[in-house]
Amino acid sequence: MKIAIGCDHGGLHLKQEIKELLSTLGHEVEDFGTHSTESCDYPDYAEKACKKVQDGNAEIAILVCGTGLGMSIAANKMKDIRAVVCGEEFSAYHAKSHNNANVLCLGERVVGVGLAILIVDTFLNASFEGGRHERRVNKIAQLESSLFE
Ligand code: RB5
Repeated sequence: MKIAIGCDHGGLHLKQEIKELLSTLGHEVEDFGTHSTESCDYPDYAEKACKKVQDGNAEIAILVCGTGLGMSIAANKMKDIRAVVCGEEFSAYHAKSHNNANVLCLGERVVGVGLAILIVDTFLNASFEGGRHERRVNKIAQLESSLFE
């Protein structure tokens, strides 16, 4: 799977761990930074990684900041992006199976590396169920379209 990843200074270490996991699993990973612990602005990295998803050049994006919250707020301002913050596996599974989320956000200051890896693994292995959930996701898209009218 093609996966775009990004982080700010608060998510650098966890992003690195996730990048290694994804590469080990055989995924094609594009890393949009940041690459240092120097303070930076998470919306810049959310934008870069999510653009890849919007363009169809990545199936999903994984974004890491201190809490995952700023990344998800920024990502959800972008058309066709359904970003979720997950701190446990149950939500990660349903984010994909029910909400067809295409961006997973994690908080390095919230979850440890071990839990984060389980969350990523769960998200990657879940599939959108469609059916009644498709109707609901379509309604989200309609809400989004109304913003641009
Ligand atoms: C940076 O200090 C921190 O605010 C950021 O990583 C993130 O947690 C924002 O939501």
